[in-house]
Amino acid sequence: MQRAVTILTISQIRSMKIIDGKKIAAQIRVEIAREAADLVRLGITPGIAVILVGDNPASVSYVTAKERACSETGIRSFMSRMPVETTQDELINEIKRLNADDSVHGILVQLPLPKHIDESAIIRAIAPEKDVDGFHPINLGKLLLGEDDGFTSCTPAGIMELLVRSGVDTSGKHAVVLGRSNIVGKPVANLLLQKKDGANATVTICHTGTPDATHFTRQADILIVAAGRPNTVTADMIKPGAVVIDVGVNRVPDTSKKSGFRLVGDVDFDAIAPIASFVTPVPGGVGPMTITMLLANTIKAARRCAT
Ligand code: GUN
Repeated sequence: MQRAVTILTISQIRSMKIIDGKKIAAQIRVEIAREAADLVRLGITPGIAVILVGDNPASVSYVTAKERACSETGIRSFMSRMPVETTQDELINEIKRLNADDSVHGILVQLPLPKHIDESAIIRAIAPEKDVDGFHPINLGKLLLGEDDGFTSCTPAGIMELLVRSGVDTSGKHAVVLGRSNIVGKPVANLLLQKKDGANATVTICHTGTPDATHFTRQADILIVAAGRPNTVTADMIKPGAVVIDVGVNRVPDTSKKSGFRLVGDVDFDAIAPIASFVTPVPGGVGPMTITMLLANTIKAARRCAT
């Protein structure tokens, strides 16, 4: 198939900006640490319980990063490590215990879970007012309705925050979301279309059933890529000047690294960087924001105890 060639002007190449998720996340974490300290002065230490079942290496590293971020911002974290053979009932009993514990304001069960456990049953067992992941149907329903008293799932919330703090105007723009997962694609599409400041976009969702995703991605002023596959988006798929948010985190073999792998996103970064106006790197783009929004949701949950 012949690929279209995009001719760029010098000013377009010069105007591309990297959205530094690490820097923006660090700024927000300062605000969160201040709020955590205010709550401590009121006698409430914000606390999150993190449950990890099994020892999936990626999950272990995510959970470790979450614990570190909590301790750096003054949030107490309670870690429950459960063996891979834990039954669904045992996990639900642990969640019930944490639902009833007043020192725990947020509960997170790290996904994916072992195959014998029904993720949906586990998510529904978490009290919606402690569901800081925003995965419970009550919180997803509130997000859909545009109600602000629930919890927004962390990666979509982080993406919206990155856009706002980078000065990207979404109103009236065409946002195309690649991917329809319950964790990213569906919630971020719904956030973008809300009739609110920092949203109000026209939204298209493309997925594995879309015969010609390029037809849509080329029209995108804002392209959110959550496909879960490296190089899903190539240079010919984006419009000059587009804002590209790469949600992908893929491990690809790299013998030059001690770990034997490196992280790449879903977007061919080097190829699209000269064409886009804004782009998020991997690592250092969306990733740091996901954990930051988890901290923000935990503060929100704890603040409710103060009112
Ligand atoms: N696994 C990968 N991302 C996430 C997340 O945001 N929350 C939970 N609970 N598990 C995950």
